[in-house]
Amino acid sequence: MSERTFLTVPEHVAIIMDGNGRWAKQRGLPRTMGHRKGVDAVRETVRAAGDAGIKYLTLFAFSSENWRRPETEVSDLLGLLKAFIRRDLAELHRQNVRVKVIGDRLSLKSDILDLLVDAEERTKSNTALTLVIAFNYGSRDEIARAMTSLARDVEAGRLRAQDISPALINARLDTAGIPDPDLIIRTSGEERLSNFLLWQAAYSEFIFVPEYWPDFSREIFHSALETFASRDRRFGGLVAQTAAAVGT
Ligand code: FPP
Repeated sequence: MSERTFLTVPEHVAIIMDGNGRWAKQRGLPRTMGHRKGVDAVRETVRAAGDAGIKYLTLFAFSSENWRRPETEVSDLLGLLKAFIRRDLAELHRQNVRVKVIGDRLSLKSDILDLLVDAEERTKSNTALTLVIAFNYGSRDEIARAMTSLARDVEAGRLRAQDISPALINARLDTAGIPDPDLIIRTSGEERLSNFLLWQAAYSEFIFVPEYWPDFSREIFHSALETFASRDRRFGGLVAQTAAAVGT
């Protein structure tokens, strides 16, 4: 298949994969079937991102608030993520994909934590796409953890409070070393950020698509990339700029 090329390819795309439950409900299926079909959409999107030359793809897989869902759904979601890592890691490795996980690790059980850490470790030298899995992730929680870490340094005399800068905060976030998302896509017609990458989204472009996540396809992704390429990004200035030029 001939691959599409785009005028401006975002370096980092982040996706809020929403609508699995409604996709299932529309078909009279249990919610878990929506999540299951959602994993197929994850596979297709990872391939499409790599093919388009995107360097970072962040997927909001499980939020720190998702623990409030019924126990069976939480267990289905964790099971699907574990199965994805177990079954797809070899293929991701073959595609030269580096896996990185963001989110609070301290409260995770060792079975899932070990699996995620192992996936990061095994793929750490890959150089094509970095697949960032946001798991047990909440942006306010991430920022609070970064603040605690800076406050400890101030308390211990390793850092002066007046030296705290956006760059220092960046370096304490789970996303340290990852450029800010150029584009954030949310599926299912909902138009909000839901505690996702609040700090990092300062200059992101947003695209909301009506399709439920299980129906997300390479074609819908390409259309979002085309819309992104047509946007002027000014980063507070008056002329169109790239993220690299302004150093965000
Ligand atoms: C939102 O749909 C989706 C989620 C909460 C989880 C997304 C998870 C996956 C696609 C599967 C595992 C992930 C990976 C990376 C393998 P929703 O349940 O909130 O849908 P609704 O708003 O229609 O109820």
